[in-house]
Amino acid sequence: MSSVPDRFPPGFLWGAATSAYQIEGAVAEGGRTPSIWDTFCRTPGKVSGGDSGDVAVDHYHRWRDDVRLMADLGLGAYRFSVSWPRVQPTGRGPAVQRGLDFYRALVDGLLEQGIQPSLTLYHWDLPQELEAAGGWPERETAYRFADYARIVADALGDRVDMWTTLNEPWCSAFLGYGSGVHAPGRTDPVAALRAAHHLNLGHGLAAQVLRSTLPGAKVAISLNPSAIRARSQSPADLDARRRIDALANRVFTGPMFRGAYDADLLRDTAQLTDWSFVRDRDLSVIKHPLDLLGINYYTPSVVSAPTDNAPETGPDQRGSRLDGHGRSAESPWPGADSVEFHRPPGELTTMGWAIDPTGLYDLLMRYTREAPGVPLMITENGAAYDDKPGPDGAVHDPDRIRYLHGHLSAVRRAMRDGADVRGYFLWSLLDNFEWAYGYSKRFGAVYVDYETQARTPKSSARWYAEVARTGALPEPPDLEAGENAT
Ligand code: FCB
Repeated sequence: MSSVPDRFPPGFLWGAATSAYQIEGAVAEGGRTPSIWDTFCRTPGKVSGGDSGDVAVDHYHRWRDDVRLMADLGLGAYRFSVSWPRVQPTGRGPAVQRGLDFYRALVDGLLEQGIQPSLTLYHWDLPQELEAAGGWPERETAYRFADYARIVADALGDRVDMWTTLNEPWCSAFLGYGSGVHAPGRTDPVAALRAAHHLNLGHGLAAQVLRSTLPGAKVAISLNPSAIRARSQSPADLDARRRIDALANRVFTGPMFRGAYDADLLRDTAQLTDWSFVRDRDLSVIKHPLDLLGINYYTPSVVSAPTDNAPETGPDQRGSRLDGHGRSAESPWPGADSVEFHRPPGELTTMGWAIDPTGLYDLLMRYTREAPGVPLMITENGAAYDDKPGPDGAVHDPDRIRYLHGHLSAVRRAMRDGADVRGYFLWSLLDNFEWAYGYSKRFGAVYVDYETQARTPKSSARWYAEVARTGALPEPPDLEAGENAT
């Protein structure tokens, strides 16, 4: 592998990311009430191993150690999410001070170490009571979200500059209400489309709240846009790509950047809904100028029109139709459920996701064109491997180092080609609760022994610390030479 000669510019932000439900635990402490993920985890058969976030990696009690760990690794920024039911139990009414105090202390701890906090308001943990009232398919939830945004902005706006409204609304809408492999586990294509719109609306309303309460704040959203390839250039396969692009990407970027849902999306889904849940002023609310666009990327998708042979997919909960147990679920693609997903070429991570950094390059170039003037931030990128401590107690993860090296090289290449990328957040700081897969998939740069909660930085964490320190990409270890990581 050839080395990347030049460096990332000074000021490029090097961070790591987590989310509340995946790490905090303490689900019944400090006045927190259940979220849809607490309920989903208690529903038999939904989460691999019957796992839940009840304890997770106990970050709620160990956050000081975790901040120290970040400081040891020399991270410049930390992306975390606030648990809505911890600060506004039930999703309505007044805030719970203890919940806000937890995040204030965390943010102060970060700032003391010179680590910039990057706060995400919603990483999938809707208060269960709001789901009982209809959840994201109902318009009211968008207004509840804006109220919650105000609570958090009032409490933390004096010390947090980077604000993200939603994390991956595609997963909330289409995995939560369409395929049902994520909480709340509904399988209703119309509910999924309604949820997508109300998430968009919630984003726009919350962005307005942030803008008016915190004039200096940077307002962002983190999408997980799909890098979609057609399996062939046949008109039918290109049409399959167009359909999935509409549902995976343009259902969000259409209203956000252009103030409209694209005509082809409305046409493809016309059998299901007339979209009359979109009201007159909604689109101007959603088209709120962004200060940053967050991009989460792991793997590309390869699609085709229906074929006679069943396609060979990986155990991918995102693009295909498999749940956390590798079983087939309902389609997350309303109006496009005959499109087939194929296994992309390339090595797979233990998620079954193909490794292909050009997908990240392509997305950065696409949004450079489609959202001119909006700086980009990689808010998630990383890989799961079956990491284990060796006899020496160290955890060597050369595969992850190679994954990171490849993707960071793609980011650098996109920057050379004109993409305005301001930073990179590795997913994830710690091994944690990987949604429907429970604790079976390890994404951390830091290994967590779930019995003792001991944290051990993997060799990728040391490698990444070096990247953050120098802005250069040290060569990854060469597997064939039998070399182990640093
Ligand atoms: C993303 C999620 C994040 C984590 C990674 C692997 O879709 O935002 O919480 O599960 O995938």
